Amino acid sequence: MEQKVLVAFFSRADENYNVGYIEKGNTHIVAEMIAEQTKGELFHIKTVTPYAKDYKSCIETAKKEKETNARPPIKGDIAVEDYDLIFIGYPNWWGDMPMAVYTFLEKHNWQGKTVIPFCTHEGSGLAGTEKKLGVACKGATLLKGIAIQGSIAQNSKDQASQSVVSWLKRLKLNH
Ligand SMILES: Cc1cc2nc3c(=O)[nH]c(=O)nc-3n(C[C@H](O)[C@H](O)[C@H](O)COP(=O)(O)O)c2cc1C
Repeated sequence: MEQKVLVAFFSRADENYNVGYIEKGNTHIVAEMIAEQTKGELFHIKTVTPYAKDYKSCIETAKKEKETNARPPIKGDIAVEDYDLIFIGYPNWWGDMPMAVYTFLEKHNWQGKTVIPFCTHEGSGLAGTEKKLGVACKGATLLKGIAIQGSIAQNSKDQASQSVVSWLKRLKLNH
């Protein structure tokens, strides 16, 4: 039977490190590549209160949220329980996932699911996030994730897409 695939991701447009003001977030771009390759459905994890458009204010807010282990409320939801394979995408924020990703993860039962992380970053890669994802998605099987430099996803889409395609091939997950 066909596996049902979900690509859930957090991503922020506006001003960011190394890319200036952007219309579509770096992780969003990678999420679309994965969805195309796997025939997956997209779900954009968004906070009820948007982050500041300027980079400096945003990193300050994100830092406070990480320090307080906050769970910012998110807009809407998706029935993760209806899917078999769930990609979870996020930017590396202060060496971690944005706290809103935890808000999303903690709303669901991950028992028996297959979870695959992907992140965009500007040097820190996945950092310790795979492990943290494993803890938050109790009962799920975690597959090897990928880290793509955000500015490459934004400005060198062919290069980013090649990395995504070969990673999915290694996992035997592309159509
Ligand atoms: C609040 C914040 C914190 C960040 N912290 C890190 C970090 O610790 N390490 C890193 O490599 N990049 C860091 N970055 C850069 C982002 O990971 C990178 O720009 C990413 O591609 C953004 O994805 P998005 O456009 O999907 O939101 C940070 C960016 C922001 C806005």
